Amino acid sequence: MNQIDFPDILKDYGQHHILDHYSRLAPDKQKELYDHTAGLDLDLVFKLHRDRARAGDASSLSVEIKPSLIVPIPRTPEGMGRHTAARSAGESLISADRVAALIVAGGQGVRLGHDKPKGTFPVSPVKNKTLFQLFAEQVRALRARFSSRMPLLIMTSRENHDDTIAFFASHNYFGIDKNDVFFFSQGMLPTITPRGELLLKDDAHLLANPDGHGGSLKALATSGLLTHMIDLGITELFYCQVDNPLVKIADPVFLGYHASAKAECSTKVVRRESIDEKVGVYVSLNGKDTILEYSDFGGRHMRALDEQGEILYWAGNTAIHVLNLAFVKRLNDHGFALPYHCASKTIDKPGPDGTTRPIDVWKFETFVFDAIPLAERTCCMEVDRREEFSPVKNKTGPDSPATARRAMVELHRQWLEEAGISVPSKTKVEISPLFALDKEELAEKLKEKTLSLLEDVYIEEIS
Ligand code: UD1
Repeated sequence: MNQIDFPDILKDYGQHHILDHYSRLAPDKQKELYDHTAGLDLDLVFKLHRDRARAGDASSLSVEIKPSLIVPIPRTPEGMGRHTAARSAGESLISADRVAALIVAGGQGVRLGHDKPKGTFPVSPVKNKTLFQLFAEQVRALRARFSSRMPLLIMTSRENHDDTIAFFASHNYFGIDKNDVFFFSQGMLPTITPRGELLLKDDAHLLANPDGHGGSLKALATSGLLTHMIDLGITELFYCQVDNPLVKIADPVFLGYHASAKAECSTKVVRRESIDEKVGVYVSLNGKDTILEYSDFGGRHMRALDEQGEILYWAGNTAIHVLNLAFVKRLNDHGFALPYHCASKTIDKPGPDGTTRPIDVWKFETFVFDAIPLAERTCCMEVDRREEFSPVKNKTGPDSPATARRAMVELHRQWLEEAGISVPSKTKVEISPLFALDKEELAEKLKEKTLSLLEDVYIEEIS
């Protein structure tokens, strides 16, 4: 194999330690490192590094923060009327094949002790269904209920792309036509030290990190899927994270509010449980709707209370959105519009002798919710956390598989009780999305059948 010229850009940016390493490699390893590096946006990471190194103290800039206007949970006949109208508008969009569902699933379940794609984590309380199965069954049920072609899009990362596809294939795409399930991979950006040095992960690869969930909106465009969806006539994209088993995929009510507001980007929020809860906060910042991550919001605002002693900035980000596809296209039209955030981390870097040493690094990523202030029109609705939000983030304690299972049992028990069926307290229940997507559908179906004959309502004694 011929000697390959290493990208000039590495020379230009003074990465002599990488070039020295490269010159010592065998030709096949040189090719591997070359190919890997050529697939990374080095210009972008060096620009971000330069901007970050020069950035002043932004906290001194004057900002005006206020609570935003948010569609409340309906409690009056008028509110119920608006909800019903929104539901039928959303149902029309689904029936007209204008909606696709996207799940961002770039991560592994390492924090849960599950070193596989996070979507393959078994989470449901009785049947132990995986996160992916719960989402895919909802899409299958919506396709059947509305005779819709609703495509399912899964964003993966380089790390889990092949495993994710293999998982869906081995489960026959959970009953969805495989031509309507699309996988695309988010981008990676090299990790860099504060002094501007790239690092080697191993002989033939630079250390790199996924470019954040905002990268889904970029990768949709670069993969060609955005154009494909627009060509299919899809106009609205339902978006959620892989970690929330309670999410109502393509909720017609949400789609309806989004459409009637002619919004380009919509969001579901829940009341923050406490001033310390680690969620982003939906606010109006200098007159524009925005989500500020809890770590950027500042203690004073996080703790602020209103005259009744309630949390003033109460709207917690569930990471559930609807995005208009013409807007997503616009975000990509002149270079990618979302800003990059820099996370400073200390990682253990393996040395040549096999020992590790701590090293400070910067990782750059984009957040999908930074699209909100770029939208011409937005819509935000409050939902009940018990019905829609119980993310699985930690192995134990809050936001863990145990809290999510409990939330699912409680919700499905409540659905059954509202349908006139009492469930003994020491009983776990789980209702398959293939049987009922919501309490209304469950009540309707239970009129026709007796519980003991049902296949997709799972009931189990707690041992
Ligand atoms: C996130 C939101 C927070 C929100 C909370 C709700 C951010 C910065 N914060 O917090 O405002 O209240 O969820 O649960 O997002 N992902 C990828 N690729 C990436 C990064 C993330 O696919 O490169 C996806 C994964 O599905 C992951 C999810 O995004 O499960 C959440 O990302 P994470 O960084 O864990 O954010 P949280 O701290 O959970």
